[in-house]
Amino acid sequence: MLNKKTVEDVDVNGKRVLVRCDFNVPQDENLNITDDRRIVSALPTIKYLIDHNAKVILCSHLGRPKGEFNKKYSLAPVAKRLTELLGKKVKLADDVIGESAKTLASNLNDGDVMLLENVRFHKEEEANDMSFCKELAQLADIYVNDAFGTAHRAHASTEGVSKYLPAVCGYLIQKEIDVMGKALDNPSRPFVAILGGKKVSDKIKVIENLIDKVDTLLIGGGMAYTFFKAKGYEIGNSICEDDKIELAKELMEKASHKGVKLVLPIDNVVAKEFSNDSEKKVVKSDEIPEDYQGMDIGPETIKLFAHELKDAKTIVWNGPMGVFEFDNFAVGTNEVAKILGGLDAVTIIGGGDSAAAIEKGGFADTMTHISTGGGASLEFLEGKVLPGIACLLDK
Ligand code: 3PG
Repeated sequence: MLNKKTVEDVDVNGKRVLVRCDFNVPQDENLNITDDRRIVSALPTIKYLIDHNAKVILCSHLGRPKGEFNKKYSLAPVAKRLTELLGKKVKLADDVIGESAKTLASNLNDGDVMLLENVRFHKEEEANDMSFCKELAQLADIYVNDAFGTAHRAHASTEGVSKYLPAVCGYLIQKEIDVMGKALDNPSRPFVAILGGKKVSDKIKVIENLIDKVDTLLIGGGMAYTFFKAKGYEIGNSICEDDKIELAKELMEKASHKGVKLVLPIDNVVAKEFSNDSEKKVVKSDEIPEDYQGMDIGPETIKLFAHELKDAKTIVWNGPMGVFEFDNFAVGTNEVAKILGGLDAVTIIGGGDSAAAIEKGGFADTMTHISTGGGASLEFLEGKVLPGIACLLDK
């Protein structure tokens, strides 16, 4: 359980409350928001503050504007979406700590909501510059961090500002840490982790941390091919990190030493070209032809994974099983999602690509929890301390 003070532990009545959210949402070329899950997930905290007569000052980054104003990264579309979702005008300041922000903040009535412009329009944000933190803090009486997706960054608005204001967390951070923390520290067993994605190197620390906790580890996606190579299989043109082959061997040995069942795909969908329409076929893992590359787990692997998952009580999944961006190679990822959706188990999806795959396949409603963090949930699963949470007041 998260042992940090929450919005409910401070008196927000009539107070100006600075709330750091992660409104870093995907947009199309016309800047329309294509997935508002991060905005919707921030609503419980915002609504609580409105209902308890706080003056709410929201802030967030969007993209990586490198410390200068850029209209492309304006939070205007977010202010509009928030206005629709809350049924209440959310005014957008033209700046972060300038005149516009100060005037809007000082004119707020109890229960009003405003949004500062993108904090990353100031290079001081990522530098965690103390005078910038102080100016930000001067806008408010209380600081609430609810930006789980950015909690792995020690930036001014995610960490530094906590030195100048009473700092507590919002409901989203509380939920993310409670659900994922319980899975890691006190899981109902059997506990199965499913790890995928392109590279072993992205997941080394997660695998190392989870090997001490899980009963079974299922590996799919591009990183499976580095493990195949470590087992001495030929993998054709499949993606492989040659400098991680030894590590893959060590991880397999460590798993066997600890009594963790590490399960690799037994068959694969392979293709000649890296494209959706490429000629493809299903082959066993140790029979990948020279001129083919692995693109997805095969049908026998899906059955094997279903078997390994059927009695699981806790499942953590991070990383797709294949090239899910191509519909013809999204079958493995979608089938695993379908299996999870039908289980009587706690199912937790790490953010980033896995969350995108689950959304794309239409399985979001069947999961217990889909994290709003990409890098943040990965670092949490690695067992790291997240600075945006560590800085908050203890209970
Ligand atoms: C994310 O999308 O993972 C977060 O918003 C953090 O963004 P960043 O990687 O640019 O810090």
